[in-house]
Amino acid sequence: MNPIKHVAIIMDGNGRWGLKNKKNRNAGHKAGLVSVEKIIKETIIQKIKFLTLYTFSTENWKRPAKEINFLFSLLENFLLTKINMLTKNNIKLKIIGDKTQLSKKIIKLLNNSEKQTSSNKKLQINLALNYGSKNELINSIKIIKRKNIVINEKNISSNLFTANVPDPDILIRTGNTKRLSNFLLWQIAYTEIFFEKKLWPDFNEKDYRKIINEFKNLKRNFGGV
Ligand code: IPE
Ligand code: IPE
Ligand code: MG
Repeated sequence: MNPIKHVAIIMDGNGRWGLKNKKNRNAGHKAGLVSVEKIIKETIIQKIKFLTLYTFSTENWKRPAKEINFLFSLLENFLLTKINMLTKNNIKLKIIGDKTQLSKKIIKLLNNSEKQTSSNKKLQINLALNYGSKNELINSIKIIKRKNIVINEKNISSNLFTANVPDPDILIRTGNTKRLSNFLLWQIAYTEIFFEKKLWPDFNEKDYRKIINEFKNLKRNFGGV
């Protein structure tokens, strides 16, 4: 049985779900939050230590301002209303991505949420926000250059946003699309990838458990036999 330390998820399909069910994309983003809560709860039940959620990519700025503003208002609301739930459940929140481009108000809220949960131990949730894997790698290499240390696997890894986080065992992408969209490209070198047909708001604990059980029985080689 393969142990699971870290699950990463590309939560895709909100917009399509919204258009299909409520005639607008933003309704899908709102519905997607219900799935987020379900999956957090199940992650705790499964005793998985790290959960990384792709929340907003460096490319998502190409979307209409109305949608971007709605996404950030949902994030704000989520942090304000759920911070006590996260604290109570011993969950640590960490932002991965470039915070500097976000509004002052959001940066403050994110910093406070990270601070308030920093000593929590049961589960670490990495929210990938204004996250792009290529940007993360460039940033890591710049730090290595500044520190004047050797370029090797260990130093590249430990200067990524995900320093101190084990590489994901499982990557799930919902929404019936088979691509990585600039997510954790370095970290998923040996991750098992699951492409799920369901749109993110339709994805539930049962679908998640099915993937976990399938993963547990896989033969992972890491290049060996
Ligand atoms: C993913 O859902 C959520 C974000 C990118 C924030 P989408 O909004 O990409 O939904 P689809 O893929 O357009 O259906
Ligand atoms: C990836 O989904 C980003 C998030 C889920 C936050 P996208 O919907 O942005 O990806 P593409 O554009 O279809 O590749
Ligand atoms: Mg999408």
